[in-house]
Amino acid sequence: MRTIYVLNGPNLNLLGTREPETYGSDTLQSVEALCRATAEELGVAIEFRQTNHEGEMIEWIQQARLQAQALVINPAAWTHTSVAIRDAVTGVALPLWEVHITNVHKREPFRHHSYLSDVAQGVICGYGIRGYRYALMEAARVS
Ligand code: DQA
Repeated sequence: MRTIYVLNGPNLNLLGTREPETYGSDTLQSVEALCRATAEELGVAIEFRQTNHEGEMIEWIQQARLQAQALVINPAAWTHTSVAIRDAVTGVALPLWEVHITNVHKREPFRHHSYLSDVAQGVICGYGIRGYRYALMEAARVS
């Protein structure tokens, strides 16, 4: 069965209580449940993880090279800061879908730049947690 790694960056463990006016009331557990239901519909397996540690994220991306056919990542704040995560993604040569719950382009200027978007197959932002579902649908269709 095809496997898609769904990886979440820093502070996403706080979803549900973190700035609910911006991120809504869904928790990371509900994101995982949505991803699992979507994966079942699509007939793919997922590995769903979250970390607050950049090195751990990089290790998971490297591990995905041998274990997965595609990556769906919400890199959270690392989107705007991390050359190392970009290098990990290009290094493993797996197709990437970048997800953001919020429309980062409507927010502070420092969120308008992403180190990942130009190496991603697709970027989904501003659709709330449904963005994960849309990214999985594309990842399963293309990979
Ligand atoms: C985010 C947007 C980022 O700018 C922010 O740092 C996050 C979450 C989103 O899902 O909207 O932590 O990736």
